[in-house]
Amino acid sequence: MQEKTVSEAIHYRRSVRVYDPEKPIDTALVKKCIEQGSLAPTSSNMQLWEFYHITSKSVIEKMAPLCFNQNAAKTAQELVVFVVRKDLWRKRAKANLDYIDTLYPKRPGSEPSSREKFAKNYYSKLIPFTYADFLGIFGWLKYLMILVVGLIKPMYREVRNKDMRIVAHKTAGLAAQNFMISMAGIGYDTCPMEGSDTWRVKRLLGLPRSAEINMIVSCGIRKPEGVYGERFRIPFEEVYKEI
Ligand SMILES: Cc1cc2nc3c(=O)[nH]c(=O)nc-3n(C[C@H](O)[C@H](O)[C@H](O)COP(=O)(O)O)c2cc1C
Repeated sequence: MQEKTVSEAIHYRRSVRVYDPEKPIDTALVKKCIEQGSLAPTSSNMQLWEFYHITSKSVIEKMAPLCFNQNAAKTAQELVVFVVRKDLWRKRAKANLDYIDTLYPKRPGSEPSSREKFAKNYYSKLIPFTYADFLGIFGWLKYLMILVVGLIKPMYREVRNKDMRIVAHKTAGLAAQNFMISMAGIGYDTCPMEGSDTWRVKRLLGLPRSAEINMIVSCGIRKPEGVYGERFRIPFEEVYKEI
């Protein structure tokens, strides 16, 4: 099958609310699109995400009421849940450190390069400083310290717990968009949904309290009436500002 160009896929993608039950989709192709989702850029390459690919009809039936029985969920052939795992930051920092070790094998007698030192410091010192928190208290202390130092020089300010949640969610959103564009590229349809009871979804998927649902993306092939009208956007000139 000839894949669409990026521009074609972007224009083809619409939020589809009714999928055709007569047109099945290939689970392996959806999985490949999820893998392409995981190639999205991620803050500090921390990859604080997980992807739950729901292919079982019985689980989809359980998920639909948790998505308030939206048509996009009820008629879905498959669902993909984009999950934020900010709680895994230590594990992901270690994975990055292990990866850096493979790039710079130990050579007795030779000093580590400045690039190696920087990369290791980044994941062993800066990332723990940014992500570590205790009941939000450390985050506020960091924030206050940054307020003071920030009076004299530019500082990274997103260090409180709520800031880090935004960082992790925007990254997961990029993966979801990569996924939806990849799906559109092969003629498959999607609908991103934040309308769900995230607590119940987490329980159904066996996720810990610390995991957060970013969005649930339903998948299938559109019925013509599944696209609710023309695409509406605020006039581009109103939102585009050239500086
Ligand atoms: C984060 C997010 C959450 C959304 N949640 C829902 C939802 O719960 N149900 C739904 O039908 N559409 C949902 N949408 C789809 C939007 O309504 C849709 O993207 C918008 O109307 C523009 O239409 P288009 O995607 O066809 O261009 C969501 C989109 C995003 C990005």
